[in-house]
Amino acid sequence: MSELEVSGLRVAHGDLVAVWDASLDLLPGRITALVGRNGAGKTTLLSGICGLLPVTAGQVVLAGEDVTALPPWQRARRGLAIVQEGKRVFRELTVRENILLGHRSRRGKGEREVTDLYDRFPMLAQRREERAGALSGGQQQMLAIATALAAGPRVLLVDEPSSGLAPVVVDQVFDLLQGLRAEGLAILLVEQLVDEVLNGIADDVVVLDRGRVTARDSATNLTASAVAGSIYSVDP
Ligand SMILES: Nc1ncnc2c1ncn2[C@@H]1O[C@H](COP(=O)(O)OP(=O)(O)OP(=O)(O)O)[C@@H](O)[C@H]1O
Ligand SMILES: [Mg+2]
Repeated sequence: MSELEVSGLRVAHGDLVAVWDASLDLLPGRITALVGRNGAGKTTLLSGICGLLPVTAGQVVLAGEDVTALPPWQRARRGLAIVQEGKRVFRELTVRENILLGHRSRRGKGEREVTDLYDRFPMLAQRREERAGALSGGQQQMLAIATALAAGPRVLLVDEPSSGLAPVVVDQVFDLLQGLRAEGLAILLVEQLVDEVLNGIADDVVVLDRGRVTARDSATNLTASAVAGSIYSVDP
């Protein structure tokens, strides 16, 4: 069964419709890459899915439940987590305080999950009393992901986690996502590194162009050139 089913979603910034009609399906234990050029509407679509922007048509169904009318925190409680663009962490708070904020949206509470999380991120465990702003860019991205994981999600939306990071750090982020996939998480990954995700970590691909989905397939069926074709095939 789908962990997340999005159908016919329309999302606007005020009067400007940025996503017209987006549908996608996220399955447990799979990474779906969401690709498309700058301004295609990828971030807007993620915001609509998690309730940060209002949707004017369509549906978001999370683990079989229609959550389209629910506010973001209630979607989070039901297992939907987002790592927003740009390594968003609370820079003035410590690593530990950032992670506790994520943990507050968890359904059942307990210190145990936080301990497990530190086992997964020994670097964050070591630096847990430091200000998040003192971490490197890659470490802040890891903290942003760890904070999302602290809520115990079943679906994880990640917006351009590789942006601005050195290749070796990008590999670490992708390794982490692969580990999470192996544990059964359904992951939607927005990525500019199309070749890397198609030949590497993506199981499925959704192409968005000018607010519309122009291709949806498994990564093995969609070549990079077909993706490029879908990105530029729609008339304005
Ligand atoms: N806060 C906003 N207010 C008004 N318009 C916006 C806002 N954010 C984005 N837009 C517009 O919505 C459209 C889609 O933008 P969006 O940021 O979702 O694209 P994107 O695919 O994430 O691009 P990028 O690859 O640059 O991150 C663009 O035309 C953009 O100018
Ligand atoms: Mg974006």
